[in-house]
Amino acid sequence: MSEQLRANFEKAGQGHVFAFFDDLSPDDQASLIKQAEAIDLAELRELVDTLVLGNGEHHCGFEDMKPAPFTLLPDNGGDQALWDQAKNIGEEAIRAGRLGAFTPAGGQGTRLGYDGPKGTYKVTPVAEKTLFQVFAEKILAASRRYNVEIPWYIMTSTGNHDATVSFFEENNYFGLNPDNVKHFAQGTMPAVDFEGKILMSGKGQIALSPDGHGGSLRALVRNGHIDDMKKRGVDCIAFFQVDNPLVRCVHPEFVGFHLQADSELSSKACVKAYAGEKVGVFVERNGKTEILEYSDLPDELAEATDKDGNLLYRAGSIAIHIFDRDLIERIGTGADAGVKLPFHRADKKIPTIDDAGNPVEPAEPNGVKFEMFGFDALPFAKNPVVIETARDEEFSPVKNAQGVDSPESSRQHQLRLFAKWANDAGLNVATDENGIPAVEFEVGPLFATSADQFREKLTEQGTVDIQQGTVLN
Ligand code: UD1
Repeated sequence: MSEQLRANFEKAGQGHVFAFFDDLSPDDQASLIKQAEAIDLAELRELVDTLVLGNGEHHCGFEDMKPAPFTLLPDNGGDQALWDQAKNIGEEAIRAGRLGAFTPAGGQGTRLGYDGPKGTYKVTPVAEKTLFQVFAEKILAASRRYNVEIPWYIMTSTGNHDATVSFFEENNYFGLNPDNVKHFAQGTMPAVDFEGKILMSGKGQIALSPDGHGGSLRALVRNGHIDDMKKRGVDCIAFFQVDNPLVRCVHPEFVGFHLQADSELSSKACVKAYAGEKVGVFVERNGKTEILEYSDLPDELAEATDKDGNLLYRAGSIAIHIFDRDLIERIGTGADAGVKLPFHRADKKIPTIDDAGNPVEPAEPNGVKFEMFGFDALPFAKNPVVIETARDEEFSPVKNAQGVDSPESSRQHQLRLFAKWANDAGLNVATDENGIPAVEFEVGPLFATSADQFREKLTEQGTVDIQQGTVLN
């Protein structure tokens, strides 16, 4: 082993990482060296000093904070002409091949209690398509409609990369051209205990965890995907999380608003369903638009209302954005020290080993993981845009095993949306008072991804027969 590496770790107070080095096989020794070499000890020192030993995250005060403005939907008082114009601009850009898609799919899905890449979770009500299939078909449908290639960049983590790639291979990329689907693993960060010492998950294994979806910016640069986008002429990157089957992956109006404002980072907002809903909110501080994560919004502000009795901070972030390629490059290269995403601290139960090298499964949080959030790019973005979107049409994530944001709630919301499209198009699908259809049927993305497209399809086909178990594809 390089003596220098060990000396550097000793000097940084992290020499224990090599405590069992001599007991390891040559392969395990090589692996530990590789893990250690990838750690930026200076960066870690700074994070430990500020986030673990210091006063925690530095948040600006809330005194100067106010809700960020957002463009209303026509149904809620917005200007229909503006939306029509945005649609035209967006469609033209999509047709010209300027749009790519990006999904961070490196999360661990702990809350859902599902033991595989979350995108492989079966989510649709009848055909039981997985999240990845739903997104793939939405992208495929748009590529056909606009006669264009739409590359899809999917960020995995070291823990789920191989399983994710195999899943796409086994399913023939759901009809997408494999050259247009790019999987890459995100970076990792070492976890530390509350004294700032790197935790080991085995004698030769540093406890590494994904560096948050904000890690995607540097991972996109590192993996050469920014160059790939440049070659393709892609400069608008539609960002959507892996958990929301209702997302409009390719949404012309959104692209149009983004381009029209010359925005570097655009976002969609949904009016919060209730004060305690676990979504970030769009705020403005020091003249900059930001997303304040739900855990950082004090209860009294979450519950504050305006003069009409509406929640003051009601513009909830549903984690759907369009990033300008240059913004990703500017932040992801890290060339400019002032333009850097901050890390956040998350206290977790992290399996580790004791001084004798025996495994320890902690019952309480025993350490800290460090994560970056992609939306922290907002303050660095020129002309950020926030537009409203309707919850019923675009947001029903699968996050928890039961209750809100669960597979069951999402299933109901998908059924309700399909019934709405069918009824808007003039079919008579019986529903209950919540809009849930009496028969369970499914509208696949290749059939339609919006009410307008449903209507078009119906005109094309004359009629469609909807019964229990019908899947329109
Ligand atoms: C997230 C947002 C929140 C938003 C809500 C809407 C964060 C920190 N918060 O909350 O503001 O209102 O969604 O649904 O994002 N991921 C990675 N790598 C990682 C960590 C996460 O790729 O290291 C991916 C996950 O696979 C997922 C997404 O990032 O696609 C969101 O992560 P998650 O931790 O589930 O965020 P939420 O708490 O649901």
